[in-house]
This record gives sequence, structure tokens and C-alpha cells, in this order.
Amino acid sequence: MNSAAPTENTTPNTTDVPVQQFRQAMRELAGAVSIITVGDEYNRTGFVATSVSSFSAEPPRIILCISLTSSSWAVLSKTHRFGVNFMREGEDAIASRFTGFGGIKGEARYEGAEWIGLPTGTQVLKDALASIDCTLEESLERHDHAIVIGKVESIRICDQGSPLLWFKSKFYSMGGPVVTT
Ligand SMILES: Cc1cc2nc3c(=O)[nH]c(=O)nc-3n(C[C@H](O)[C@H](O)[C@H](O)COP(=O)(O)O)c2cc1C
Repeated sequence: MNSAAPTENTTPNTTDVPVQQFRQAMRELAGAVSIITVGDEYNRTGFVATSVSSFSAEPPRIILCISLTSSSWAVLSKTHRFGVNFMREGEDAIASRFTGFGGIKGEARYEGAEWIGLPTGTQVLKDALASIDCTLEESLERHDHAIVIGKVESIRICDQGSPLLWFKSKFYSMGGPVVTT
């Protein structure tokens, strides 16, 4: 049973939810960290994302959300290709570079890690838990983001290790499995 009492910060049932309150609520949602790579070895950028999810298994499809003002959307919307790299614990330094915090841009985000260029041109992180090479099947622009559906073209799995997580604006590692009684 959960003994934590909810804090008194409720909103009336209205569409005008304050953005700040929305952000505060979303800080309570833990997410697995991925790096999305776009472009090729000559012109590449990318970003950290927690919006990645499996969309369909048959056929294999990935879904994610991407900011329309990001450097990655400028490239992805033209090349129609991207890589999804599931990050492992201990890879927070390279993930940080892909947040763009501190003004690190484009090619400089790739420094400090080993990358593999796939035949499609997509760059994937050598030590990711798994990497998925996608082509853009469909995108839907809504508000300040696009919902992107990726057709899975190839997969690379090196499943030794645990995922890197994001919670309350910080990187976390996983404590271990919960034993359900
Ligand atoms: C933990 C975390 C998760 C994020 N998830 C997403 C996401 O799912 N989609 C997105 O567009 N940006 C996301 N961002 C923001 C991007 O990583 C990044 O700040 C932005 O794309 C950089 O834009 P730029 O390439 O124009 O500098 C996330 C940032 C953090 C720190």
C-alpha cells in the first residue's frame, strides 16, 4: 500500500492547466533515457528523449515525440532516418551532451563515445543496451512537437547492463526488481 499523502496542489477541471503545474507533475514520471541520432557521419546531430515507446510489434514500429524547433527535426524531416539508442546506467555523461545543455551542438554531441555507422548512414552508439535503425514512416505535427512513427529497419542488441533513467530532472540507475508477494 502507498502511504505517501498527495500534496495539496490540485487544479479545477479546466483545459487551462498552468504550464508550471504540468511541468511539476511530469517530473514525477520516471522515464528510460534514449539518444536519438539523426544525420550521417558528415552532418549529424541528435537529442536525448524519454518519449520513446514501442508502437507496434507486428509490424515493428517505434513512436516518439520531437520538438519542431530542435536541430534534430530540421535534419530528420529531410533525411527521414533516425537511430534510437537505449542508454545504459553509467552513460549519463554522453546522454548529457545530447540534452544540448551548456550549448553543445551537432557533431560535438558525439564526442567522448564510440559510434558505429550503419549501412543506412545512421549512427548508433556502440555500447547502448540496444539500438534501433528506423526510417520515418509517418509524422504528425501538433502544437510544438511532431509525433514520429519509425519503421524498424534493423536492430542491434547488447543487453548486458541496466537502463539509465530520468526522474525529477536527474539521471538515475535502477535499484533492482521488485518482488511481488
Ligand atoms: C531527460 C530529457 C528528455 C527529453 N525528451 C525529449 C523528447 O522526448 N523529445 C524532444 O523533442 N526533446 C526532448 N528533450 C529535449 C532534447 O533532448 C534537447 O534539449 C533538444 O532537442 C535540443 O534541441 P537542439 O538540438 O535544437 O539544441 C529531453 C530532454 C531531457 C533532458
